[in-house]
Amino acid sequence: MRVLSGVQPSGKLHIGNYFGAIRQFIELQDEHECFYFLADYHALTTVQDPGSLKSLVSDLAAAFLAFGLDPSRSIIYRQSDIPEIPELMWYLSTVTSMGLLQRCHSFKDKVSQGLVPNHGLFAYPVLMAADILIVNSDLVPVGKDQKQHLEVTRDIAGAFHASFETEVFTLPKPMILEKVAVVPGLDGRKMSKSYGNTIDIFGAEKAIRKRIMSITTDSTPVEDAKPKEGSLYELAKVFAPTGEEAWVEKAFGEGGTGYGTIKKKVFEWFLEVFAPARERFDELSHAPEEVEAVLVDGAERAREVIVPLMDSVRRATGIR
Ligand code: ADP
Ligand code: TRP
Repeated sequence: MRVLSGVQPSGKLHIGNYFGAIRQFIELQDEHECFYFLADYHALTTVQDPGSLKSLVSDLAAAFLAFGLDPSRSIIYRQSDIPEIPELMWYLSTVTSMGLLQRCHSFKDKVSQGLVPNHGLFAYPVLMAADILIVNSDLVPVGKDQKQHLEVTRDIAGAFHASFETEVFTLPKPMILEKVAVVPGLDGRKMSKSYGNTIDIFGAEKAIRKRIMSITTDSTPVEDAKPKEGSLYELAKVFAPTGEEAWVEKAFGEGGTGYGTIKKKVFEWFLEVFAPARERFDELSHAPEEVEAVLVDGAERAREVIVPLMDSVRRATGIR
């Protein structure tokens, strides 16, 4: 099967991104033909500072490789290296109803968080549909919050087929990793860079420790059992290595273990999980030309699929 997913370079990568998305990308490489890309056009709807965007793109590319996305098995590219994507977005826009986009939660959420409701933000699901449909992907692994965008993509593909009496696109299916569908942030809300409640994966060790020690908890005394809910409990379960899940259940379920002790444990587990990727990320940060070469090659390989598909799309519309 063909798999595609993208991540926006719009902030530092946090553990929600890893457990909710990137970890699945890595596993899928073993069995599928995978396309993974850096969604820099998407990021432009919120990051409008050229210096920041550039460094976020290089960091995300280095992170992809550091986590183990492997250019010999997957096609890894940068969205803006594929000029056919915004072109397809336009064709799709002409068959997308306003109502469909008005119903999208992510637009409403972002505006309610104070983001300027620009047209890019509103039209974003159409760009996402173009990303997905342009390589005819069967499966799209994403976090739960992106599920609606997949439904919109299928609707748009259907509308295109109906309007132009064609069947050029594959209707993609979402793939949601249920076990850790939503990773909570330090404050109990969904971990998200827009809430400032994240734990960055590639930050300085000291800063990460401080973040973990600041996870919000209640005031249950050390000797009492603690409620099995909230960020610390959920994050401890996310990080507990195999065999240590029982430790978490016991620490919360029976009295005697303080929240501070549990937090220290979570920090230790964080380092265990991410140490190899953090090291590789550091190396790649000093070898930008190596990272760039991967992206250039990835775009060429992606276009081998995209160019013929776009030919059919243009024919279907009568544009060429
Ligand atoms: P953010 O919410 O920080 O802006 P993005 O929207 O850039 O994150 O998300 C990138 C990917 O990571 C998406 O596939 C998204 O579903 C996933 N993701 C983001 N935050 C979480 C989370 N807290 N739990 C699970 N998955 C998440
Ligand atoms: N919208 C996704 C997010 O914010 C990123 C993204 C853009 C994407 N295009 C995509 C994900 C195509 C999957 C498929 O996380």
